[in-house]
Amino acid sequence: QESEFSPAVVIGTGYGAAVTALRLGAAGIPTVMLEMGQLWNTPAADGKIFPSMLSPDKRAMWFKKRTEAPLASFLWLDLANRNIDPYAGVLDRVHFGDMSVYVGRGVGGGSLVNGAMAVVPKRSYFEQILPAVDADEMYGTYFPRANAGLGVNHIDPGWFESCDSYQFARVSRKHAHNAGLATTFVPSVYDFDYMRREEAKEVPRSALASEVIYGNNHGKRSLDKSYLAAALGTGNVTIRTLHEVRDIIRQQDGTWVLTVRQSDPDGNVLAVKQLGAKYLFLGAGSLGSTELLVRARDTGKLPELSDEVGQGWGTNGNVMLGRANYLWDTTGALESGMPALGIDAWNDPRYPVFAEIAPVPAGVETWASLYLAITRNPERGYFTYDAASDSARLQWEISQGQPSIDAAKNLFDKINAANGTIYRYDLFGDTRAFENRFTYHPLGGLVLGRATDLYGRVKGYRNLYVTDGSLIPGSTGVNPFVTITALAERNIERILAEDLR
Ligand code: FDA
Repeated sequence: QESEFSPAVVIGTGYGAAVTALRLGAAGIPTVMLEMGQLWNTPAADGKIFPSMLSPDKRAMWFKKRTEAPLASFLWLDLANRNIDPYAGVLDRVHFGDMSVYVGRGVGGGSLVNGAMAVVPKRSYFEQILPAVDADEMYGTYFPRANAGLGVNHIDPGWFESCDSYQFARVSRKHAHNAGLATTFVPSVYDFDYMRREEAKEVPRSALASEVIYGNNHGKRSLDKSYLAAALGTGNVTIRTLHEVRDIIRQQDGTWVLTVRQSDPDGNVLAVKQLGAKYLFLGAGSLGSTELLVRARDTGKLPELSDEVGQGWGTNGNVMLGRANYLWDTTGALESGMPALGIDAWNDPRYPVFAEIAPVPAGVETWASLYLAITRNPERGYFTYDAASDSARLQWEISQGQPSIDAAKNLFDKINAANGTIYRYDLFGDTRAFENRFTYHPLGGLVLGRATDLYGRVKGYRNLYVTDGSLIPGSTGVNPFVTITALAERNIERILAEDLR
């Protein structure tokens, strides 16, 4: 059987992959993208592409029998989750013992399911986590380029103060200010003008119809509408969906051969194909790209890969918590699914925290203020290859999450003390106040300058590159997709100039 060949192949269609494919396509290089998830552009029988958080169906999750929402319970009742048929849905929760990781599946990767917060990291912290990267270049060129390519926009402060959709955020802001803490608006790739018209009932609702984590039917500039649309527009990029890369082999002549499993959305394998490439870019995300290289090294297919492959993984210090509000201090029943405000306590010398003020888009008054705190947790996990399941397993212990809890507790104890409020103990399936058994922000595994050189070239092999969140050493101090996008812009510019001339 003759195998197909493409000059460049990009694995995945998330942030790093989308940037890379656009720049390759614009340079005239024929490029194939391989994505294990679906293209989400066709309405189902209900007229919608994605289900809402309140009535999830099989489209919600990647081959699960029951949905696995982050808020496991409300008043200890499992109200959020539903039994569903296993299907190639849009959100996956990958379980590794004491840690589970949420990731998006489909053309656009995490951009389909995420909260759209587009935050540039604090420069001083960026310089700490990636000291070998020229920060002048990043802040002068690549962060602005990423923001432009992503279509980042800012909320109108006047509308924020007067709308119903962010009453929940104004309540949390008041409580933070009572404790002497600073808050800041968060830029977004959700179109705030569309949201304003949603509230005015001029357009179909998405963020205001409890849509987030299982996809947004309107308003969000996910990658399929930004970088990937531009990539396809070059005429040199094609995307194959429901194509999962399983193995990477290097030929004698230095080219790559991928083993690719094509399935239907119900999970039936349709074909196992071989695809050749001269230049191979890994953009399958922290879990996906790291697994591919851990598997390739430990099965002997790419024995020159370094011991750094699989190391340096972190949760971005994620921890979620809720506070109970007084009965008179209502958040309102209408809460935008897209956060727009954060508590910025990153300057705290001992316990830096950037806490996004998160919605509880339940459609009813909940008397709860929810937060996703991003903390500076120095703990790192690593991946090992498990031959029995032919997969990479994350090694992370529950105790490694304690620094995140300590930092969040330090901040929110202050807020509770200043307001006479308490934590919510009913949100995470048991009586814990702090949930750190999952992360939205998996980072690392193929860290820049360790598993790769300073531009994402994998050590040990030529023409093999990493483009995604696995390059970032476990932490960015803010929501990560702008950092991933900007780093990918920087790296591909150099690789195009030096390697693909
Ligand atoms: P990403 O994970 O986006 O894409 C990888 C793609 O590769 C996926 O489409 C996957 O299906 C595919 N793939 C994996 N393995 C493959 C294989 N073997 N073969 C073929 N395809 C494969 N960040 C932020 O900055 N602001 C925010 O508001 C949020 N909010 C948020 C909410 C939720 C619910 C989640 C899950 C995540 C966020 N994030 C976020 C995080 C953000 O979405 C995340 O950091 C980025 O999507 C990571 O981008 P990458 O390019 O690394 O890969």
